[in-house]
Amino acid sequence: MSEATALLQQYLAQLAARGVTHVPLAAGSLSSIHRTATSPEAAATNPAPAAAVSSRKSDRLATLAAEAASSQACRALGTLRDTMVFATGSADAELMFIGEAPGAEEERLREPFVGATGQLLTKIIQAAGFKRSEVYLSNVCKFRPVVEDGKPQASRNCPPTQLEASACLPFILEEIRIIQPRVIVALGPIVSSSLGIEGAIADIRGQFHEHQGIPVMVTHNPSHLLQCAQNRDGVKEKRLVWEDILQVLKHLGRPVTAKQRAYFTNA
Ligand code: URA
Repeated sequence: MSEATALLQQYLAQLAARGVTHVPLAAGSLSSIHRTATSPEAAATNPAPAAAVSSRKSDRLATLAAEAASSQACRALGTLRDTMVFATGSADAELMFIGEAPGAEEERLREPFVGATGQLLTKIIQAAGFKRSEVYLSNVCKFRPVVEDGKPQASRNCPPTQLEASACLPFILEEIRIIQPRVIVALGPIVSSSLGIEGAIADIRGQFHEHQGIPVMVTHNPSHLLQCAQNRDGVKEKRLVWEDILQVLKHLGRPVTAKQRAYFTNA
């Protein structure tokens, strides 16, 4: 029996012990499992076709999302709300955006980056020449943090604490291992420090760092741009984020038009 088959058996036995009787499988997964179980050597020397690799990624993400939803480490903190918000976008994305935590809209729709901040990020993604569905969008923290001031939370949001981010950290690290993007964009200080990149955003943005051997561009969370929109620095800060995105496009070998290059230069 191959190591992969043994691990799979062990994992399914753990699920069964917890009372799980069915697991979701994407099309093609059964045949991949069958190939590995019946002929591990052939599976190793003849990698599965791209479609099978992709569905295997989706399966692994679905399993991970289920684990996040029942995470005892996150629940035990008592400072995170109950609804788990996982990720959205393509499992085959070459570009991965990582944010801090879901807010009220994300929690309501169970999808990252759909509130005001998310709409701004979507505009940035589109201005860079991608569809939202082509990239992978996720958060370090999978639950909306409770605003701890004793007043009703309503639509108020807050960034996760270091403790909250740490409790959820295994999930985003595994997502990175599964997606294997060509570039990660880390949106804000909680995200960069979670990936082991230390320093104030002003000092560490604008250059590539590395995590799991993958280039990481650190930049401001778009929520920072929304806060700055009210003051004189608004356009200047947008330009900084845009310059970081231009570097990402260059790294990915994507074409950049003169119009794109000039966005937000009227600071
Ligand atoms: N919405 C998210 O999902 N993540 C952020 O970091 C900000 C807003």
